[in-house]
Amino acid sequence: MRIRSFDEYQAAYQKSVEDPEAFWAEVAQNFHWRKPWTKTLQWNFDEPNIKWFVGGKLNITENCLDRHLAERGDQPAIVWEPNDPNEVGTTLTYRMLHDQVCRFANVLKRNGVVKGDRVCIYMPMVPELAIAVLACARIGAVHSVVFGGFSAQSIADRINDAQCKVVITADGSYRGNKEVPLKNTVDDALIGCPSVKRVIVMTRTRTPVSMIKGRDVWWEQELKQVTADCPAEEMDAEDMLFILYTSGSTGKPKGVVHTCGGYMVYAAYTFQNVFQYEPGQVHFCTADIGWITGHSYIVYGPLACGATSVIFEGVPTYPDCGRFWDITDKHKVNILYTAPTAIRSLMGFGTDVFNKYDLSSIDVLGSVGEPINAEAWHWYDDHVGKNRAPIVDTWWQTETGGILISPLAGITKTKPTFATLPLPGVQPILVDENGKEIEGNGVSGNLCMKFPWPGILRTTYGDHERCRQTYFATYPGLYFTGDGCLRDEDGYYRITGRVDDVLNVSGHRIGTAEVENAINMHTGVVESAVVGYPHDIKGQGIYAYVITEHPMDDKDADLTKRDINATVSRVIGPIAKPDKIQFVSGLPKTRSGKIMRRILRKIAEGDTNNLGDTTTLLDPAVVDEIKSGVL
Ligand code: PRX
Repeated sequence: MRIRSFDEYQAAYQKSVEDPEAFWAEVAQNFHWRKPWTKTLQWNFDEPNIKWFVGGKLNITENCLDRHLAERGDQPAIVWEPNDPNEVGTTLTYRMLHDQVCRFANVLKRNGVVKGDRVCIYMPMVPELAIAVLACARIGAVHSVVFGGFSAQSIADRINDAQCKVVITADGSYRGNKEVPLKNTVDDALIGCPSVKRVIVMTRTRTPVSMIKGRDVWWEQELKQVTADCPAEEMDAEDMLFILYTSGSTGKPKGVVHTCGGYMVYAAYTFQNVFQYEPGQVHFCTADIGWITGHSYIVYGPLACGATSVIFEGVPTYPDCGRFWDITDKHKVNILYTAPTAIRSLMGFGTDVFNKYDLSSIDVLGSVGEPINAEAWHWYDDHVGKNRAPIVDTWWQTETGGILISPLAGITKTKPTFATLPLPGVQPILVDENGKEIEGNGVSGNLCMKFPWPGILRTTYGDHERCRQTYFATYPGLYFTGDGCLRDEDGYYRITGRVDDVLNVSGHRIGTAEVENAINMHTGVVESAVVGYPHDIKGQGIYAYVITEHPMDDKDADLTKRDINATVSRVIGPIAKPDKIQFVSGLPKTRSGKIMRRILRKIAEGDTNNLGDTTTLLDPAVVDEIKSGVL
């Protein structure tokens, strides 16, 4: 399963293209299957219908926990670093984690959860979050983790879409100097969620919370009622493992579905090879488990490989901008995996902080979530990696389950801002607007995949047609990523950003339509249009053009902007708040009523001399008005 040189990479890549089934069957041998598969792959991208390891039976937690007990039962599986550096964290060995997962799995059973049930998890970054996730997987329940920054409305939408029976949460969470009232938010959400029969509440902040008799139970009390004996449920390779909601260009977020067998094989294979993980190494992925990065590279990938995974509760700047480096030295982190937005925000504090830290444990650095600009890449390389730790710029998506395009650490020659080459099993293709393949090097186009890999999404929960429409219909026969991409003279890939109406704000994916819908819910708003613009730290900022019923003076306008932000926070969450709001009297529309976002994007970017043809607009004058009021 392990590639150790560039020659081996090339050989593996070639084999994976010539005979994908044989290639992945060999990789999958490295796992524990209760029953072997009968067919490695069945697929078509038209319906789509994708099945890996058909007929194979397994449980992912046996692979992440049980099978490590004999050899490394006493090795740390999870190292938890609390928000406050003065609070004592915890270390869970594989044996302890196994014990706790089994116990909590029995808690779930006691509370009526059976195989196939959906369980919503809304928790802080504490070990119990990983335990809850794994406990669901242990008994075959489908977890749907919702990031702790989402609003009650967003939680309710996700719970209702998946018809979750149980919610697992905590009284509150700590983030920097803030305390976030998680249970309160869940209570607000549950007013509109009749499917939820039980709420299991873990104690973290000791904030007073309401506990409804017959519905709400305490995590700690429940644990007293169970034993540590919980045999793993036998799962089909294609049984659902989890749902994770993500934003697209239209409508509400959709529930991306991953299944047990293929996802496990892919998360582990990519973890091992991209980071060149060596037994005994400590891996620190700074993402939240509420995003796919945390699913694949805090929980499942590292644990399937028997690694030690750090879970950090807090933020990079608390108590000061040296926190990541403090954690790195304290836990002797070997692999550090973070996002460009975090790097850029830390760059602003200067480099004196590095005098205090050693950082010599670092072997590999990773980047994920958005394009990394050259300046951030070099800062990361110079100050964190001291020019001796390879940087892997990993490109992938919620839908892909694991990394698709990335250097292999220390093996692939890196080039700043390039995700470089596809991993074995990944067959990228660039196409033009009409879906025609753009061949050769030194070209750019829309990035698609022409062949499935084991971690590809199988459907979007409850709406398979939406999955087909979103990913497989734009270019028939291909999986469309939504990203634009350049392939340079060396055949290296560089992701240039989304080509659809999806924003990437601080590495978070947000649909412009979602933000518009939230703004339009605000009283007095007639219509709005949202676009992204370049932002020094966030990568992209959110720019909203808003038409209101009545004109306002400056004072009212200022308050209304803040009110709109409050509405967006309520409807989606603080991460979707516009950075800039410009009130306008009209929007540039075509005669058929379509908003010309291209023009709005250019104006927001400050590129007003280059608006292209505006004569086809219904009312060309509106463009001048918008230009003159640009923020
Ligand atoms: O636009 C790409 C960007 O993030 C999108 C996927 O977002 P999400 O599903 O939330 O997953 C993020 C973590 C995997 C992609 O369509 N993206 C992700 N990684 C990179 C990136 N853009 C450029 N370079 C990357 N390394």
